[in-house]
Order: sequence, then C-alpha cells, then structure tokens
Amino acid sequence: MKKKIVILPGDGIGKEVTACGKKILEQVAECFGHQFTFDYATIGHEAIEATGNPLPDESLEKMKNSDAILFGAVGHPKYDNDPSAKVRPEQGLLKMRKELGLYANLRPIKLFDELLAASSIKPEILKGADILFFRELTGDVYFGERGRKDQGSTAFDTMIYSRYEVERIAHKAFKAALTRGKKLTSVDKANVLESSRLWREVVQEVAKQYPDVTVEHMFVDAAAMKLIQNPRSFDVVVTGNLFGDILTDEASQIAGSMGMLASASIGDTVGLYEPIHGSAHDITGKGVANPLASILSAALLLDISFGLKEESETVIKAVEQTLKDGYRTRDIADAATPHEKILGTEVMGNVVCNNARMLV
Ligand code: NAD
Ligand code: IPM
Ligand code: MN
Repeated sequence: MKKKIVILPGDGIGKEVTACGKKILEQVAECFGHQFTFDYATIGHEAIEATGNPLPDESLEKMKNSDAILFGAVGHPKYDNDPSAKVRPEQGLLKMRKELGLYANLRPIKLFDELLAASSIKPEILKGADILFFRELTGDVYFGERGRKDQGSTAFDTMIYSRYEVERIAHKAFKAALTRGKKLTSVDKANVLESSRLWREVVQEVAKQYPDVTVEHMFVDAAAMKLIQNPRSFDVVVTGNLFGDILTDEASQIAGSMGMLASASIGDTVGLYEPIHGSAHDITGKGVANPLASILSAALLLDISFGLKEESETVIKAVEQTLKDGYRTRDIADAATPHEKILGTEVMGNVVCNNARMLV
C-alpha cells in the first residue's frame, strides 16, 4: 500500500514522542511491505517563531493533500503565563481541527493489565476498564463568540451547539457502541445549560435509531465522580468539546498516565492522530517522555485511515510485549520497577519497534 503521511511534531515533548510514532510507522511499512512517504509541517510555537502564524497555509495545504496526519503537541510556557498574548500556539491546533472538519475525537481509555500497579486507583476497581470517548471537537465554547466588554473588565465565551453537530457525533458514538458493549453514556450539564438541553434532546432522538444500545444521560459533575468510582460501568461515552477535554485527562489515570492515551480525530476528510497530552514543559528536553501515546496513535492511524487491521494490532501487541517484559518510562514505573528497566523516550520507542519486528 502506498500512502502519504504528514508529520507535525509541534512543540516540547511533541517532537520527542512523534519521532517514535514515525519510527513505528516506518517499521510497519518495512515489515508488511508498504510504501509510506513522510512529509513534515510546522505548527504551534515553532511556527509562530518562524512565520508569525501558528498554522501556516503551507502546513494546512500539506495536510489536505495527505492520506493521514500524525501530530505531536503544541504549547510554550511563554504563552501560558501571558494571558495578553494575541497569537498563541493553541490557535494553530484549533484552526487545524476546524479547517479539516475533524469533528469527532476518539479517545480510547485502554488499561493494559501490566499497568494495574501504575495507577493511583485500586487494581480491583480498575481491572478490565475499557472506555471509548467520543469528544465533539469543532464546536462548543471553544468556537463560540468570545470577547471583552465594559472596557475590558468583563469577559465572555459562548457555549454553543447546533442540532447537526450533536447529531453527527451521536451517530458515530452509537455506531461504535453497537460494535462494543452496546452501552452509551451521554454526558452534559442539561440541568443548567441550554446548549446541553439541546444536546440531550438530540441524543434522545438519535437513540431511537439504535434500539439495541442502552443509553444513559449523566451530568458532567456526576460523570467525573463515577469515572473514578466505577470506571468499568462505562462503555462508550459521548460528550461536548470542553467536558470531553477535561474528562479524558481525568480518565488518563485509569490507563496509568497521560503518556498512554492516544486519539484519532476524524471527520469527512483526512484523519489526524495525536496523543491527548500536551507539550509538557516540565519534562521537555529531558528524554523521559512516554512515547506510547504517540505509538498507539500511529496504531489508530493504521486501522482507521488505512484499514490496516493486522498492522495496527501488531503495534498494540508490540506495546503489550514491551510492558510484559517490564519496560517502563518514568511516568508508568512503580516502586517495584528495577532501575535498569526504566527507559528514556527513544529507547522505549526502539524496544517497541523491535518487538513489532519480532511479531511479524
Ligand atoms: P500536559 O499534557 O502537557 O502535561 C500534564 C502532565 O502530564 C505534566 O506533568 C506532564 O509532564 C505529564 N505528561 C504529559 N505527557 C506525558 C508523557 N508523554 N510522558 C510522561 N508524562 C507526560 O498539560 P499541561 O502541562 O497542562 O500543558 C502544557 C502545554 O501543553 C500548555 O501550553 C498547553 O496549552 C499545551 N497542551 C497542548 C495539547 C495539544 O497540543 N494537544 C494538549 C494539552 C495541553
Ligand atoms: C487537547 C488540548 C487542547 C484542547 C488545547 C491545547 C487547545 O488540551 O487536545 O486536549 O483543549 O482541545
Ligand atoms: Mn486536553
């Protein structure tokens, strides 16, 4: 199979982990006889420094002309601590999602059994947890009208959803539920917010077309509690952009670390794959970031964009083998991990590549 993949490493640990994501794709191509060609594009702080624009047109063009995109992360401490900055790395990410129409963000929360001890949640609560989040990605308060008034002393952001936006993500989530545990939890704040009342109304309507799926509606505050209290009670979760952002960072603790969670952003055109984590200023440049989220994002890319199920499964099995062999990055190590099994980013990535080669 011949495919064009655009790599956007972005900022901070985005660069470090995406190098490993790309390596596993090269490994898969070699083992299975595919021809993947790679092109690089800039985004975020790096792009602002080079061009003044967090998402240059050239990057967008390259993405539009590709078969799939592997993205790292954006962000820089300079902007985090300067609320007055008008041009920001995160604007590049939001523009990319909007321009490419990537309205559905799939965030699988998969706990590898080997990592039961890495989480701060009790193993007996966690074992077997397997949740698939559908986070709506191009609407909500992220894209509603925002601004200042009263000479700048009042600020507002508008939470806004239209029927078609809820319908299309709900259909995707229901379809996925049919292939899994046939249970869907829709998370909103319909006891307070009008946009959530529309959300709930539309999900209830769409549900009629999926009589085999059991639907529950949950308020976001209760969902935040329940995720930790009983993660196994969830199968597929569908929610808005902001609630999905927050709940999936929380849910990363079910999988052991932010460094374990991959995602797929899909819509009507090209798919984009990225870890859910950010540029992690606190560990940037130290070579300790966990590359598994990027590697697992590459596995999602192979499966969803290219339909290469066996290749994707091989990558997941290679990660599993690496964990079975006791290898850990710092974030998923526990007191029992021997010092020599704690690996840096690049070596961890290489071990997974070697395991993939052995599995084919
Ligand atoms: P973050 O996700 O970067 O980091 C949160 C915590 O998780 C940190 O302690 C970090 O060290 C740890 N962590 C994250 N990824 C890890 C990995 N692969 N291995 C080991 N540990 C990992 O969130 P933050 O600190 O709130 O934000 C930092 C910057 O990233 C900000 O500028 C923010 O805007 C940006 N951000 C970008 C994205 C994205 O590009 N998709 C996502 C989230 C945050
Ligand atoms: C994510 C990030 C982004 C978001 C930020 C950096 C704009 O947190 O991808 O989860 O909120 O969507
Ligand atoms: Mn986030």
